[in-house]
Amino acid sequence: MSGVVTVNTNPYEGQKPGTSGLRKKVKVFLQENYTENFIQSILDANKEGIVGSTLVVGGDGRYLVKEVVDKIIKITAANGVAKLLVGQNGILSTPAVSCLIRKYKTLGGIVLTASHNPGGINNDFGIKFNCSNGGPAPDHTTNEIYELTTKIEKYNIVPDLKCAIDKIGVQSFTVEDHQFTVEIVDSVQDYVDYMKEIFDFPKIRSLIQGSEQRKPFNVLIDSMSGVTGPYVKRIFVDELGASENNVRRTVPLDDFGGAHPDPNLTYAADLVAAVKNGDYDFGAAFDGDGDRNMIIGRGAFFVTPSDSLAVLANNLQHIPYFQKTGVQGYARSMPTAAAVDRVAEKSGKEMFEVPTGWKYFGNLMDAGRLSLCGEESFGTGSDHVREKDGLWAALAWLSVIAASGQSVEDVLRAHWAEFGRNYFTRYDYEECASDPCNEMMRVLEENITHPGFVGSSHSSGDKTYVVKLADNFSYMDPIDRSVAMRQGLRIIFEDGSRIVLRLSGTGSSGATVRLYIDSYEATNVMGDAQVMLRPLIDVALQISQLKKYTGRDAPTVIT
Ligand code: G1P
Ligand code: ZN
Repeated sequence: MSGVVTVNTNPYEGQKPGTSGLRKKVKVFLQENYTENFIQSILDANKEGIVGSTLVVGGDGRYLVKEVVDKIIKITAANGVAKLLVGQNGILSTPAVSCLIRKYKTLGGIVLTASHNPGGINNDFGIKFNCSNGGPAPDHTTNEIYELTTKIEKYNIVPDLKCAIDKIGVQSFTVEDHQFTVEIVDSVQDYVDYMKEIFDFPKIRSLIQGSEQRKPFNVLIDSMSGVTGPYVKRIFVDELGASENNVRRTVPLDDFGGAHPDPNLTYAADLVAAVKNGDYDFGAAFDGDGDRNMIIGRGAFFVTPSDSLAVLANNLQHIPYFQKTGVQGYARSMPTAAAVDRVAEKSGKEMFEVPTGWKYFGNLMDAGRLSLCGEESFGTGSDHVREKDGLWAALAWLSVIAASGQSVEDVLRAHWAEFGRNYFTRYDYEECASDPCNEMMRVLEENITHPGFVGSSHSSGDKTYVVKLADNFSYMDPIDRSVAMRQGLRIIFEDGSRIVLRLSGTGSSGATVRLYIDSYEATNVMGDAQVMLRPLIDVALQISQLKKYTGRDAPTVIT
């Protein structure tokens, strides 16, 4: 029998969850009681349901995951939790956590990840709480967790409880007067079973392996040394018949091999080069925790996430899951280009525009009004779970290709020919000094909300844009009527073009400015996005005075 110890502690400042959980440098989490305080606050925010509950625990394999899993086991045991489902060695992708919470109807789960941020002792770690619907906790819960961290005085722990997280199976402990069970689960099994229900695996398998009518469709899948490695091997190699040469970086590393595990043109440049130079029909990469995806076609033809969402929206009938559930509405985050809106309009489906962050999609899905959604930040997913899901997106694309017989590029060309094209780009200025960025946003908000800004003209080269609307985006959730204010500055012009500026809520130090530009063309659809959007980018730089405030001549990442 193990005993509960109550430890006195003091609050730490700044334990406020951002866009997606609490993210800080590993060294911040290593401070005495820092992690314990936050875990206890998560449990206290769930006070009513915690005794006798079941929780899912897992993370993306980055540095500190195992140690924090061990702390969570000891602290949940001391707080009356009845059972934990823990991924073997602490490994669970973010969508797999969501899948387990929903399948086993648990009170929620704790996800250990800083997503696409670099890992290792000098980099980032993160802790996120997901609710019983499998999705990231909504603002009112994360605010409550934060409030509790500012007042915490003690936490409970069973210091000498020893649980082996490398062995699949059930381990039971007697903690004072109650039983506490930890079930170590295969990290991939439930998720893979679910994907096999959602998609037509034999059909995707015959695409990849080829048939009498069609040569093998050669894929290159890059796990970027993140958590998806074991999932990719099981799904692509064992189930879909791809070879070991079709997958890369499938061993999760605690520092992602020193790389930045973010699937975009900059950080997944290796994959882009390999697909460009090799004989591949399709490339996909996923981020550290497996919720983001990048899709490219032959010759490294790049599919923007905004287009990816629109194409999938237009083709859901090829996926068995949607044949069963039907398709309710669509949604995108505000900065995401509006390509999917055109699909919604054509099919007469509801369309929602929410603030940045997956947590804003959950209520709509729970209410049965949303089937497919996405963010420009390489996030795509459906109501099969309550997280975005990188592997799901790749399998959805392969389903579309298997059904249409077209290449990735042809699918896109056909889509643009039918709907027109929303050119989109995002400029990121990473790790700038915080104060000048905050000042830039303050001044910009003042300027664009000043009477007289609407109707003003802004020119670059031979293009002139007239402002139609400018504000700081706010959103009222149609289901629970909760309001999220100040979600990004937007300037919308008469021709529908948009400039959006916001500060990142996922960084662990300094400020990251994100500048989003999008513009619609009905017929001129084959241009280069950077060329087509240049005038609007210049206007954005003029209006925001970004260079003056950040001191940056160029962004760190262009998407
Ligand atoms: C970023 C993305 C956002 C995404 C989040 C978590 O947040 O922009 O779309 O939901 O990561 O993956 P940001 O850093 O912009 O706050
Ligand atoms: Zn992620």
